[in-house]
Amino acid sequence: MSTKQRVLSVLNENKEKAVSGQEIADQLAISRTSIWKAIKTLQEEGYRIEATTNKGYRLTEEPDVLSEPFLRTLLHKQPKVLNVYKEIGSTNDEAKQLVNEKKISSGLLLAEQQTKGRGRLGRTFYSPHQTGLYMSLIYQNKEGMDAASITTTAAVAVCKAIEKLTDKKPVIKWVNDIFLDGYKICGILTEGTVNFETGTIDAIIVGIGLNFQTPSTVPEEFESIIGSLFQQEKAPITRNELAAEIVNQLDALYAHLDNAAVLEEYRKRCFVLGREVSFAEGEKTVQAIARTIDEEGGLVVELVNGQMKTLRYGEISIRLEKDAL
Ligand code: BTN
Repeated sequence: MSTKQRVLSVLNENKEKAVSGQEIADQLAISRTSIWKAIKTLQEEGYRIEATTNKGYRLTEEPDVLSEPFLRTLLHKQPKVLNVYKEIGSTNDEAKQLVNEKKISSGLLLAEQQTKGRGRLGRTFYSPHQTGLYMSLIYQNKEGMDAASITTTAAVAVCKAIEKLTDKKPVIKWVNDIFLDGYKICGILTEGTVNFETGTIDAIIVGIGLNFQTPSTVPEEFESIIGSLFQQEKAPITRNELAAEIVNQLDALYAHLDNAAVLEEYRKRCFVLGREVSFAEGEKTVQAIARTIDEEGGLVVELVNGQMKTLRYGEISIRLEKDAL
């Protein structure tokens, strides 16, 4: 942990009172000049730190800056690697690179902004500065886990985290989109890294992109489709809190790997069941009614001729009556 992060941890532990530079210096066994420099950097980053002569420093307000020490205080299980980037191409790409270079085998990467954020099916994931959560969780592959079930599990974890920290009721559009009030607020991109020596999947990377607050400008192509968790109102929670809760929920579900229980939670929130959907089959668009989610997370649909068909991947379209969701 850097000096800046250690100073921040001390201030965070003493929120109610001011702590003198000397006390911090003694606690961290570093010079008062280093403390002073760290405080200045934190203030420049947006942390409100009140400095009073003879009393010391007090953290009065926590800005919504993603921060490793804050995240660590909120996480139930400490990841060996927890990197927060100010700006990055894509946290999933970075995760893949770190795994391929054998620098990490598990961990958590987050970014304030992505310049090459990727979505499913080769799409771009718009990732503007500080208004969203862009994160990749890296898990060592284990038996019983495949990309489909971890994606389903991640969707449930995101919903549970939102439900725990807010009064909102997110819903899932098969296979991995989270919607609120008729708009997509979160997407999940799960990827595996292949070990070329053994030909097996080494690590599973779960990329989660969540629009937390509405950005001041949205490119035209995304305007009509993206929503955010806190559309109009000021967020009552921080992105650190939500990110940590998502990780806590996913870690807990991943540790037990009870696919049947996860799928039950998934079905409860999957708003497409019982509704008319369409999907592409070659050049054709096929209409059907979504009936259920099977034991492997596939979407079972009933075709117009009454036949049942299970979709395992891809995407469905559904007409959204925005106010009804
Ligand atoms: C989708 O909606 O199609 C999936 C979007 C996934 C976006 C996340 S943001 C963090 C991670 N890094 C990426 O480049 N993509 C995922």
